[in-house]
Amino acid sequence: PGPLWPTAARNTIRFAHQALSFVQELRERYGDLVTLPTMLGPWTLVFHPDGVRHVVQENHKNYRKGGISNHVLRLTLGNGLLTNNGDSWLQQRRLIQPIFHRKQIAAFGQLMTESTLAWIEEGNLDTSQPLDLFQQMSGLTLSIVCKALFGADMVGYKKRVFVASSMINYLEAQAFYVPGLLSLPTPQRHRLYKARNTLYTVVDELIAERRKSAAQSENDLLTMLLQARDEETGLGMSDQQVRDEVLTLMVAGHETTANALCWTLMLLAQHPDIEARLREEYISVLSGRAPQMEDLPQLKLTRIVLEESMRLYPPAWAFARQAIDEDEIGGYRIAKGAYILMFPVATHRHPDFWEQPDVFDPERFSPERAAGRHRFAYFPFGGGPRVCIGNQFALTEAQLVLATILSRYQLRLLPGANIVPEPLITLRPRGGLLMTVHPYKEL
Ligand code: HEM
Repeated sequence: PGPLWPTAARNTIRFAHQALSFVQELRERYGDLVTLPTMLGPWTLVFHPDGVRHVVQENHKNYRKGGISNHVLRLTLGNGLLTNNGDSWLQQRRLIQPIFHRKQIAAFGQLMTESTLAWIEEGNLDTSQPLDLFQQMSGLTLSIVCKALFGADMVGYKKRVFVASSMINYLEAQAFYVPGLLSLPTPQRHRLYKARNTLYTVVDELIAERRKSAAQSENDLLTMLLQARDEETGLGMSDQQVRDEVLTLMVAGHETTANALCWTLMLLAQHPDIEARLREEYISVLSGRAPQMEDLPQLKLTRIVLEESMRLYPPAWAFARQAIDEDEIGGYRIAKGAYILMFPVATHRHPDFWEQPDVFDPERFSPERAAGRHRFAYFPFGGGPRVCIGNQFALTEAQLVLATILSRYQLRLLPGANIVPEPLITLRPRGGLLMTVHPYKEL
């Protein structure tokens, strides 16, 4: 309200409808830190890597998860790691961190490749008609994270979990466009709670079964969550906390990775020269067998292609914090309670840090060219103490899935296709990603 009202309304509408071009324009016109009046109050947009480092790392104690995005996510994820704050977050992070240790992730490598092979066997890469790769990749990454969470028990629950979790994704994406949609007792919120309750029922059953058979150690994340103990106090988590963490890992851990895979497939179809070099990598490193964890250090091109794809199309394109107390970022005063937004999607194309920022050039991530780059010029997984806990899981999964698929198939966009990124909670291809699938004649 007040004289800024028309500006605030205009900004809110532009952000809701054209966030990507709007954010880029703001950075170009106003610089590295911009205060934007919106109908939800003033927002501070931080574009410079120094500012990002200040918020997520150097002065992270002054910033908490808050605002509308956190509110919407909390409706389904409760007090899980992604939405939690303060001492409760720290305690949970300490309990869960060891479960996501690099060595632990290595144990999931086989599961990731096997799931991808089984998914191909089930006919998910139908070569007879165009497919929506966004749908397909979401199905694959959801089944991988669920198998990692629940082990073999997943089979009986698959359908229910898939239906409920796509409903949650759909409604949360809508809520992003229409603030308040899920805050009021709308039919949408009713449907969201119904889907969430389905997941609660499934996860509660699995927790109860695991608690009964606690003596048998299972090598899945759910068992590890139930067995996690604080080193000092020896205490573990309540069933409700485990449930929130399970839902968090399911939701945070699949659509992001599915998007990273989609953008990579699109970019490779647009750059057949790099696609051909990838295929050579698979022929020389794998010689026809399926990729394993141990192959990853040799699949160097796969790794940098993925990194470059997440530079241009970061699945977590924006994320937010709220200032607990007043502060200063790069000489600008930050008011107590200020809502801070950071945009990998904008900083990753900042011309002070990237040459020809819009060009797909995976070699940027070769060790020689990456040396000396600002740590926060590239932050697809965030940074500081709240850095993505699943980053190793995601990188391992994406590389193994890509190598399994691309050593066997070539994927092509439909003629004239123009794939437009849609910034919802994650950055996804608007209307899906239609592609055709062509098997290579010989492996
Ligand atoms: C946090 C990105 C995959 C679980 C985050 C954050 C980012 C991110 C940017 C930090 C958000 C913030 O600071 O506000 C991604 C991307 C992924 C991915 C781009 C895939 C390419 C995964 C996977 C899992 C996961 C596979 C789990 C299996 C989490 C959790 C948090 C988180 C639990 C919250 C951590 C905390 O606050 O302590 N992710 N993520 N993510 N991610 Fe991921």
